[in-house]
Amino acid sequence: MSTAAATPFEEVLSAGGPPVRRLMADVELLLGRITVAYGTQLGRAAGTTLAGGGKRLRPLLVFVCVDGEHGSQRRRQALVRAAAAVELVHMASLVHDDVLDDARVRRGRPTVYASQGRGTATASGDFLFSRAFSLLGENGNASQIRALSDACVDLARGELAQRRDAYSHFAGVERYLYRCELKTASLFVAACKLGALVAGYDGPQVEALGRFGQRVGLAFQILDDVLDVAGDVVQTGKQRGSDLLEGTVTLPLILAAEADPELAKLDLSTLNSRAEAERVCERIAASGALEEARRQASELVVAAQSELDGGLDSRVSALLRLVADRVVDRYS
Ligand code: FPP
Ligand code: MG
Repeated sequence: MSTAAATPFEEVLSAGGPPVRRLMADVELLLGRITVAYGTQLGRAAGTTLAGGGKRLRPLLVFVCVDGEHGSQRRRQALVRAAAAVELVHMASLVHDDVLDDARVRRGRPTVYASQGRGTATASGDFLFSRAFSLLGENGNASQIRALSDACVDLARGELAQRRDAYSHFAGVERYLYRCELKTASLFVAACKLGALVAGYDGPQVEALGRFGQRVGLAFQILDDVLDVAGDVVQTGKQRGSDLLEGTVTLPLILAAEADPELAKLDLSTLNSRAEAERVCERIAASGALEEARRQASELVVAAQSELDGGLDSRVSALLRLVADRVVDRYS
């Protein structure tokens, strides 16, 4: 990754030039307006989530699926609404997830759940989720609504699957990837499809961009799971080993358990301290599983990029390739 990069995707913003930067600024303004428009209680809860920042990778994906100057003012507005809607769903899912996971810190800050309680966090997540759809509805396009609602259905299914699989690493790699498709890749698919739909691409191109998003999303989640084992709190905003303590079995543990009989026998429900989780992280790292997980993520990025070969504007495919590369670099 470029050392000068202010965000992991700075290089993408530079390559996209003023049109992409303007759209990113507009989406931020729109999100800010939405969070203050409904009184102080919602403003505080939604504002906490918005101020937490995040990479805004999903809005960026919406924008870079569309060529050059992004067309008429009307199309720009439709793109900004679509990008904000995806980010609102993402924010809603995290606010709800923190309630479900009893999580007190996200991105280094207190969660809405920790600072404002379960009820406010649940209702604020509901608000963000609903507002996403009223916003996208303004685009007046049923296919766009379908793309985002499909992702929401998958997010909820992913959450349920993760609960069902908690504390069990015998489900294996396939089941793990299935969960990642639902809980993470689905929103990447929606972001790419929304960009493609607003741009007016034909059906096969919308589908190809959806597959691109799906593979990048999977790589992103695998690398996020690697970071939970290998990363430090400053980089990730949370302490390592959190997935283990929550009973979430991820690719590094699944791969490490194939090579290390001690890890294969490990019962995650018996882990009850941060120090024990750290020791398991060390053991996973020693098995070589982190390198193998990173390799699998890189393969997915290559597979994602191969979806860009047919018929897209060369500037669009170059920007999308760059996004996919930066997803991997961020974690290397
Ligand atoms: C974070 O995963 C959570 C998600 C990716 C999705 C959570 C989905 C829901 C709560 C259900 C549906 C919500 C909506 C709005 C449709 P994680 O807990 O593995 O990662 P973390 O470390 O970031 O918490
Ligand atoms: Mg969580």
